[in-house]
Amino acid sequence: MSKQLMDQLVKESQRTVPVGAICNGTVIDHIPAGSAIRLIYLLQLADHDHAVTVGMNLPSKRLGTKDLIKIEGWIVNPEMANQIAVFAPGATLNIVKEYRVAEKIVPKVPHELRGIIKCPNAHCITNHELANTVFLVENMGRKNRLRCHHCEKAFSCDQILLVRQEESAS
Ligand code: CTP
Ligand code: ZN
Repeated sequence: MSKQLMDQLVKESQRTVPVGAICNGTVIDHIPAGSAIRLIYLLQLADHDHAVTVGMNLPSKRLGTKDLIKIEGWIVNPEMANQIAVFAPGATLNIVKEYRVAEKIVPKVPHELRGIIKCPNAHCITNHELANTVFLVENMGRKNRLRCHHCEKAFSCDQILLVRQEESAS
């Protein structure tokens, strides 16, 4: 192989990382790098048996780097799509049918999230009584901030743990 061809192939592989196409399912693309892991808990992907491909820190023209999740045999519902938009602003949601992108979902960030976030404030009543948490979603431009309805403290999406994330750690 000529050095020129080798250089070209190396350059090419740095620009694109091949991730296989799916047949029927959901592709969550353009996830801000570092956020895929939270979506894995949000969607409970470790708890069901769909084939899941996760890409992290992949090169992206638009974002520099991005995460990507492909789930075979599972179609995201509108409520889930809206929750994804809280934790991965700008992510694109594609429904794939028979290898083709059949639909691109435009999610709407919900006003509140009930029962899925653990409040990071150790003094918050939700950490001492069996109360479902309620967090209000505040739009901060490119990122969303989450405010606990009970203790009124606000947190960035990177600061919080999902209830399911905490359960799996203990
Ligand atoms: N995709 C897939 N399997 C398929 C078809 C598409 O995994 N059978 C993935 C593509 O790899 C891509 C996403 O679904 O990550 C969206 O596909 P497509 O709309 O073709 O890509 P783009 O034109 O890049 O769309 P956008 O800019 O909206 O991401
Ligand atoms: Zn709280």
